[in-house]
Amino acid sequence: MEYQTIKGEKVPSLGLGTYRLTGDACERAVEHALGMGYRHVDTAQMYGNEAEVGRGLEASDVDRGEIFLTTKVWPSDFAHDRVVSKTSESLKKLRTDYVDLLLMHWPGDGVPLGETLGAMRELHEEGSVLHIGVSNFSPSLLEEATEHAEIFCNQVQYHPYRSQDELLDQTQKLDYLLTAYTPLSRGGVQGDATLKEIGEAHGKTATQVTLRWLVQQEKVSAIPKATGEEHLAENLDVFDFELSEEEMDRVFSLSR
Ligand SMILES: NC(=O)c1ccc[n+]([C@@H]2O[C@H](COP(=O)([O-])OP(=O)(O)OC[C@H]3O[C@@H](n4cnc5c(N)ncnc54)[C@H](OP(=O)(O)O)[C@@H]3O)[C@@H](O)[C@H]2O)c1
Repeated sequence: MEYQTIKGEKVPSLGLGTYRLTGDACERAVEHALGMGYRHVDTAQMYGNEAEVGRGLEASDVDRGEIFLTTKVWPSDFAHDRVVSKTSESLKKLRTDYVDLLLMHWPGDGVPLGETLGAMRELHEEGSVLHIGVSNFSPSLLEEATEHAEIFCNQVQYHPYRSQDELLDQTQKLDYLLTAYTPLSRGGVQGDATLKEIGEAHGKTATQVTLRWLVQQEKVSAIPKATGEEHLAENLDVFDFELSEEEMDRVFSLSR
């Protein structure tokens, strides 16, 4: 595993996404992933799977302190008291006293940004939320958010066909983590001729080249979702090779 350093703290560059993972399959995927060496898990109140994620965490032998766990509050729960009560529910379902990162899942409308982030700040002060972040925020909205809380992360869609140049610049200036969601373009990168060709030189698949390209960027983490052990293992196996500058640029050029 490799790590990104954000505000002096280390975050595992690769995590497990869990959107649409439910029931036993979710519990098993989380347990298997942790057994293989994953140390970062992404869920959300909206996914309806926090209890299964919690059971998977508990079933694994990995200490809670080694795992970077993220959940997210949905916009309909952005009022102060809803943020507090929904996060308390999350902690019960996840069977833990704290989450490493709590995100606003999407920008809201109606509830002032300061109210939602203020509630998250209170949770941070009492210790149930270690870091505060946002998701699907534009650079300007992110800048506004920093007036209300220290923003640790912006989780956005990022993969070879979707560039995020402006946010990437901002991550360096404001020192936050850009977490790439849908990093595999929902499996769409698998057959890409350019990615496959780059992979051949390293004995890696197009999927692995994609994940390597993401985690090799400063302040970027990726959270591919995978169900079975084969995909879980393939996605984790990206830390024993490096892409050259030219190979990185070839992947960047796929979105341009
Ligand atoms: N913040 C947000 O608004 C937001 C939005 C969307 C997603 N997310 C987060 O980001 C995570 C990842 O995004 P995503 O689930 O949309 O898409 P993704 O990770 O790009 O793709 C998941 C799909 O790729 C397949 N896959 C995984 N590994 C593979 C491999 N090695 N080879 C071939 N196919 C592979 C999976 O199949 P199997 O399941 O069969 O393995 C699944 O169908 C989500 O689970 C969620 O945690 C956040």
